[in-house]
Amino acid sequence: MDGFWVGSSFSASASLLNISALLLLLLPLVMGNVEANASECDMFTGRWVLDQSYPLYDSASCPFIEREFSCKKNGRPDLEYTRYRWQPRECNLARFNALKFLKKFRGKSIMFVGDSLSRNQWQSLTCMLHSSVPNAKYNITRVEDVSIFSFTNYGVKVMLDRNVYLVDTVMEKIGRVLKLDSIEGSKLWKGIDFLVFNTWHWWNRRGPTQPWDYIQIGNTTLKDMDRMVAFERALTTWGKWVDANIDPAKTMVFFQGISPSHYNGSEWYEPGAKSCVQQKQPLSGSTYPGGLPPAVAVLKRALSKIKKPVKLLDVTNLSLLRKDGHPSIYGLGGRTGMDCSHWCLAGVPDTWNEILYNFIL
Ligand SMILES: *[C@@H]1O[C@H](CO)[C@@H](O)[C@H](O)[C@H]1NC(C)=O
Ligand SMILES: *[C@@H]1O[C@H](CO)[C@@H](O)[C@H](O)[C@H]1NC(C)=O
Ligand SMILES: *[C@@H]1O[C@H](CO)[C@@H](O)[C@H](O)[C@H]1NC(C)=O
Ligand SMILES: *[C@@H]1O[C@H](CO)[C@@H](O)[C@H](O)[C@H]1NC(C)=O
Ligand SMILES: *[C@@H]1O[C@H](CO)[C@@H](O)[C@H](O)[C@H]1NC(C)=O
Repeated sequence: MDGFWVGSSFSASASLLNISALLLLLLPLVMGNVEANASECDMFTGRWVLDQSYPLYDSASCPFIEREFSCKKNGRPDLEYTRYRWQPRECNLARFNALKFLKKFRGKSIMFVGDSLSRNQWQSLTCMLHSSVPNAKYNITRVEDVSIFSFTNYGVKVMLDRNVYLVDTVMEKIGRVLKLDSIEGSKLWKGIDFLVFNTWHWWNRRGPTQPWDYIQIGNTTLKDMDRMVAFERALTTWGKWVDANIDPAKTMVFFQGISPSHYNGSEWYEPGAKSCVQQKQPLSGSTYPGGLPPAVAVLKRALSKIKKPVKLLDVTNLSLLRKDGHPSIYGLGGRTGMDCSHWCLAGVPDTWNEILYNFIL
């Protein structure tokens, strides 16, 4: 019996019950009813198991999938990476049910806010939904930085706000200024029912792809600063926004967590490997030899200071095990590119969404 009931509170009260009451209590568990309360178990500790009933969709049945994530179309020959299911140690996840999701979300909106990893998860969710209800009408529109995928008959909107730092970058006389204490972009988040935030991958950008010239903290404008400190300051600004603006009765807030990259084989006992190319299997077990990226501790510290409820989709550990899940040479750049940061679809972000589903339902 690997249910969440195996805990001190249960054994403490067990001694007070007679045997028949105990049997009655255990009956639903013996009947295999363990998944019912996944949201109360630690869904993030577990292992990957091969399950031939996966993937949840074929990427070919997702007509709007972006080339960047569509590894199979781009020629990736192995498909075992699509057949892994995440098995938490303490409970079973309820399998994603698109109809149940659409009914629950009727008239509601869910918005992912963040960088291309948010786009990866947004696209995963739209494919998971569309492939289950292929005849349901949908409409994709884009208004400035916000992409809106609506299931018109259900009134469900699945949105994406591209915003890589959450805080603002403003054009001023001196150039582009990243303002760690300013969060005007939040205007777009008002009135959304479910918000899933993410930022991290752009904090270490330098050189031509760094999208700012100066960084402003308090009243000081600098050419550069410790990026980890800047990241934490921005998360603090965002956390204050959550505390000042979110009504938990109306809006549920999630943070997507730190999605890991795989460019250093020393982290998984293949010191020669400089990328994820040719990786066809996840790591077995539950622990990644290379440990956690330092950004995780910074994120958790920032989240712990927020008073309003924010759920962390703590996907780092489970994704670290999936060195096989990235596009590598089957992404946007093709054979000349090497993408070990994003994830193939179908693939790992489907599991992030399956866990999100288990929280929401
Ligand atoms: C799961 O837990 C919630 C909250 O404690 C409770 O309301 C619900 O009845 C539980 N569901 C099942 C099937 O045990
Ligand atoms: C993730 O792994 C680290 C060790 O690598 C461990 O300390 C931490 O508790 C794990 N987190 C979860 C949610 O399993
Ligand atoms: C698609 O969405 C846009 C914006 O939400 C709306 O203006 C338009 O009427 C929709 N089109 C259809 C066919 O539903
Ligand atoms: C920034 O400058 C203003 C006006 O000069 C001052 O009132 C404020 O205290 C300063 N804030 C910080 C954080 O130093
Ligand atoms: C690769 O990972 C190993 C083990 O975690 C570490 O010692 C090394 O510094 C890393 N190399 C690079 C280039 O980051």
